[in-house]
Amino acid sequence: MPALVLLGAQWGDEGKGKATDLLGGSVDYVVRYQGGNNAGHTVVVGDQKYALHLLPSGILSPECTPVIGNGVVIDPSVLLSELSGLNERGVDTSKLLISGNAHIITTYNVTVDKVTERFLGKRKIGTTGRGIGPTYADKINRTGIRVQDLYDESILTQKVEAALEIKNQLLTKLYNRRAIEAGQVVEELLTHGENIKQYVADTTLILNNALDEDKVVLFEGGQGTLLDVDHGTYPFVTSSNPTAGGACTGTGVGPTKISRVIGILKAYTTRVGAGPFPTELFDEDGEALRRIGGERGVTTGRDRRCGWFDAPIARYATRVNGLTDFFLTKLDVLTGWEQIPVCVAYEIDGKRVEELPYSQTDFHHAKPVYENFPGWSEDISKAKTFDELPKNAKAYVKALEEMSGAPISAIGVGPGRTETIEINSFI
Ligand code: IMP
Repeated sequence: MPALVLLGAQWGDEGKGKATDLLGGSVDYVVRYQGGNNAGHTVVVGDQKYALHLLPSGILSPECTPVIGNGVVIDPSVLLSELSGLNERGVDTSKLLISGNAHIITTYNVTVDKVTERFLGKRKIGTTGRGIGPTYADKINRTGIRVQDLYDESILTQKVEAALEIKNQLLTKLYNRRAIEAGQVVEELLTHGENIKQYVADTTLILNNALDEDKVVLFEGGQGTLLDVDHGTYPFVTSSNPTAGGACTGTGVGPTKISRVIGILKAYTTRVGAGPFPTELFDEDGEALRRIGGERGVTTGRDRRCGWFDAPIARYATRVNGLTDFFLTKLDVLTGWEQIPVCVAYEIDGKRVEELPYSQTDFHHAKPVYENFPGWSEDISKAKTFDELPKNAKAYVKALEEMSGAPISAIGVGPGRTETIEINSFI
């Protein structure tokens, strides 16, 4: 019953797409369990580069069934354009399954996301502006629209009208915007519904049956541990649970069925949007990490904030996710530095603190305590085994492993599909 969860151990953008794709051939189902088109995976297959935002990256493996679970929020127009973009490039997407319980990002959710951020001014979260937060808010408020609602015009109309009754007050009276007309939204949603009907299924039943039949199921988290609405750097987080527990609630597969939880860990740290980031660099090292690592958001095109590796964050990820393994990515980006600083603890108001503080105030005050590791200058992108890495690269990886609390079972040494060192097999 191999059910694996693959998730970001930091603030997202750790290179999950590559890890998922590496496993793609041996996996029967790849399932997204939270988030929406705020995610961004870049997957390189041969000489082709694919940027996926909403679809599970398993969509590129013909043997694999891609699944969008109930915990995901779906913008149907983005879904349809992502599918047609892949079809135009010859990718067969007909196996896709979508949960009827997943929530729909409506056009008014996108509008509310954008105007709220604008209204917040310098207190803004720096969201991706894709309507993610407002859609999850509607879900929790029990005013959301689900995929299954698109197949009952009467229910859909009632729900859209009820939601807009409140939102139009907000839009017109608070934000000075035009009201949105329910009829037009319903019409658009009904058309989208028809266009995605072939994919809609009882994904919970299908996934549980698959696990009973010993199929390999991979749960693919979007964003990352520190963007989790419960366990992340709240309020500078996304509105869902990328952490391992989200794989259960977001798909309807119980925790006893999960066999392995793999954290994707970048060899340094990045974050997009606002919020605390103790190891952030504002100098030429930060600029070099951004340039060499190509640290620009796949979804938003925004430059990512860059900094050195933060060991308390990695330990925290091990703890809150129950990680069994790490996949260390982008080690090659660090090639060429004479010394590589690693944050081993924090100094908070004059005291040394070993673990991520639970208090937002303390984390805002956390200053990194660095230990320097000797760098390497050799090209590592051709290394196929751990032993082929330069001595200092091996020592860096071993030190990270020791500090992070779970074995590093794979290492990314370049962006290509084959530029990975596998140490322990995941399946
Ligand atoms: P939202 O998910 O659009 O609501 O944005 C909330 C926060 O999560 C912002 O700081 C975003 O930049 C961040 N975020 C959302 N998706 C991703 C991602 O895939 N990678 C990195 N940051 C993300």
